[in-house]
This record gives sequence, C-alpha cells and structure tokens, in this order.
Amino acid sequence: MRAVKAVLPVAGLGTRFLPATKAVPKEMLPVVDKPAIQYVVEEAARAGLEDILMITGRGKGAIENHFDRAPFLEDALERKGDGARLDAVRAATNLADVHFLRQGDPRGLGHAVLRARQHVGQEPFAVMLGDDLIDAQEHLLERMLDEQAARDATIVALMEVDPEHIHLYGIADAEPTADADVVRIHGLVEKPAREYAPSNLAVIGRYVLKPEIFDVLEKTAPGRGNEIQLTDALQVLASDEAVAGPVYGVVFRGLRYDTGDRLDYLKAVVRLACGREDLGPDFRRWLGEFTASLQ
Ligand code: UTP
Repeated sequence: MRAVKAVLPVAGLGTRFLPATKAVPKEMLPVVDKPAIQYVVEEAARAGLEDILMITGRGKGAIENHFDRAPFLEDALERKGDGARLDAVRAATNLADVHFLRQGDPRGLGHAVLRARQHVGQEPFAVMLGDDLIDAQEHLLERMLDEQAARDATIVALMEVDPEHIHLYGIADAEPTADADVVRIHGLVEKPAREYAPSNLAVIGRYVLKPEIFDVLEKTAPGRGNEIQLTDALQVLASDEAVAGPVYGVVFRGLRYDTGDRLDYLKAVVRLACGREDLGPDFRRWLGEFTASLQ
C-alpha cells in the first residue's frame, strides 16, 4: 500500500533564527512571497499526499490561519477585482486537507511523530520537516513513496554532505544496492563528530515510515539534548530487520535548502526569486550588477 498521509512536525522553537522567530513561527518566514511551510505542503500534494497532519505548539497559530479561509481578506480582494491575489490567498486552503494537533511538551522530533499515531493508524506515512525545502522540480518524495511500497521498507532521504557539516546531521552507516540512488542502511548516528561518522550520507527531512515505528518510539528513551530522537528509533529498525523490515535510504542529489538556517534561507530566497517568471528577469539583472560591484 502506498502512503497517503503526511505528518509535518512544526513544534520546534526555531532558535537558530531568533529574534525573527520570537513571535513568528520559522515555518512562516517568507521565501520570496510564500511562507516556507506552503512549499512543503505543495510538495506533499504533488506527491499525492492530501491528508496532512501538522504537529504544532504554542505560538504556531499563524500556521493554522495560513491554511484556513480568510473571508474578510477574500471579500476585500473580490471587491477590488484583484483576482490574481485572491487566487494566491485561496491556493493555500485548497492544497490539501490539513489537520492540526498540539504536541504538548516539545520533547523532541520523535515525540512529535509519536503524537501522530492515532491519526495515522496502521498505514505507512510520510514525515516532512517544515524547514527543509526541496526544489519543486525534484521528485524525491514520489521516489521515496514508490520505494516504500515496492520494498515494504522504511525509507529515509539522504544527502552527501561535506565533512565539516557532518556533526549537524544524523549520519547513515550504509551499503550500496543494485540501484545507484538507493542504499541499505544498517545504522544511524545522530550528529556524530566527523572522525566517528560511518559515512558522509546525512539524513535530511523526508521519511516514509511504517506504523511499527510508533511502538519503537514509545520505548525510545530521551537521547541527545534530552529529546526523544527519531534517529534513535530508526537506529533500532536499521540494526534489527525483525522489528519492522529493512531500512533503505534514497540518495538525493538535487536542490535542497534548510530554511531554518540563515545562510541556507538566504540562498533559497535568491535562487527561487531568480527562477520566478514575474520577478526573475528584473531580479537577475540587479543581482548580476550587484555581484559585479562586489568584485
Ligand atoms: P530542529 O532540531 O530543527 O529544532 O527540529 P527547531 O527548534 O525547530 O529549530 P532550531 O534548531 O532551534 O533553530 C527538527 C524538526 O522537528 C520539529 C521542528 O519543528 C523541526 O521541524 N520538532 C522538534 C518538533 O515538532 N517538536 C519538538 O519537540 C522538536
């Protein structure tokens, strides 16, 4: 069975982006003119996941408002005859069926995923991190959903990272398969020092999980940072196939931005603005002049 539901944990505090995220959720920071989280919901919808559960927390109300209808705003735009902006406002509402559940205690990503248990039931499901932005031309999630269904396995997205960034990610102990984009994972280590890392393959914010993960998460003790880590639960699966079948990684070689990181966020805004039909030509011209002036 192919997954049809996505869980988006958005309860994190976004400390890397303070003070912007003091009163505004980091998922609502605009990337050009759409909040980062809308790109993620669009990606889910494109892959056929139209049932979305966001795990939220205090101070994340703006996300709920963004995916709800806005009658006063829509009426005002309608009266002005501003059809283009009206469509843009309504687009977020029509993408998918978005549900919200509060995490309660923010006890880590693993705990946030565990909160989805009732909604997900006994089906495979995707987990998508709200601050990981995959370029709209890529088909990573579709590929992961296909691999999950074909192999009846747990699937994580991996990306090769430079040695100096290894300590920022979960890193996979992996062996190649007959498919150049797919590796078999035997172990995962959360944010290891470079010298102890089993590879340079880092886990990025897309997973397709089996419902057995919930039982494992129930038993997962708080780990790094005193948080219940999804990586620790995945490590249990990867080290013992009897628990829930094998774990595979799909190695992604396309464009991805961590919009929770300030430098990556700036790169995302610039690159996406350059690619836009409306803003792109003027922005590229200005950017060319500006970079020339830096020489
Ligand atoms: P991060 O480690 O990126 O944490 O969480 P964060 O708080 O969002 O950001 P920084 O590092 O402080 O800037 C990874 C993902 O897990 C979610 C976050 O929203 C993010 O998508 N998360 C984390 C939860 O939903 N609940 C938690 O208790 C922790």
